[in-house]
Amino acid sequence: MLPPETIDAGDLVLRRWVPEFADEATEAVRESLPELAPFMPWASGAYDLEASRDFIKRSAEKWDTATEFNYAIFTADGDLAGSIGLMTRRGPGRLEIGYWMRTRFAGRGHMTTAVRAVSEVGLGLPGIDRVVILHDAANGASGAVAAKAGFTEIERVAREPEAPGETGLDVVWERKER
Ligand SMILES: CC(C)(COP(=O)(O)OP(=O)(O)OC[C@H]1O[C@@H](n2cnc3c(N)ncnc32)[C@H](O)[C@@H]1OP(=O)(O)O)[C@@H](O)C(=O)NCCC(=O)NCCS
Repeated sequence: MLPPETIDAGDLVLRRWVPEFADEATEAVRESLPELAPFMPWASGAYDLEASRDFIKRSAEKWDTATEFNYAIFTADGDLAGSIGLMTRRGPGRLEIGYWMRTRFAGRGHMTTAVRAVSEVGLGLPGIDRVVILHDAANGASGAVAAKAGFTEIERVAREPEAPGETGLDVVWERKER
């Protein structure tokens, strides 16, 4: 069973990525580079419309193979505020949540709202008993989102840093209850 293509999250609506969102997504990423670049390996000055289109194309392929479910986040005013996804890459029974927020919409509790909404969807899918979030130890905002969204820190794991702001220590959080 697949998750819904649209998730109503109160003040926000999460919509499965489609090519029509590419222009606004490019603007959102480009204006947020100072905040995204330290922790998102793909977020650099080279990010352009082609990169957005490619992300959306890959997201469609991954949705169709049921390996990744990526949503654009929209405010009640219809602005594209960020992205959030459920990913199967951590193995059976669990879904990893990844996200980024457009800078001018950050600090308003939006990502916490979006994480709560996709957690409930993920935990409602057959065979899924936990949702997890991994972030670098230097990424305090991401850790605050995980804690506020009802996740519990379970371990810290060393790995190679992939983005310039990373220390190489991943903090792993999980949530088991809807
Ligand atoms: C992490 C991110 C998605 C948070 O989005 P957001 O919509 O601002 O999140 P929220 O408003 O729901 O919550 C953010 C919390 O982080 C806190 N915070 C912000 N910067 C912080 C820091 N450096 N250290 C600790 N907490 C911090 C805020 O105070 C807020 O908590 P509060 O509501 O208790 O005050 C956003 O900062 C972002 O896109 N960062 C860059 C990309 C990224 O790191 N993605 C995650 C990779 S794992």
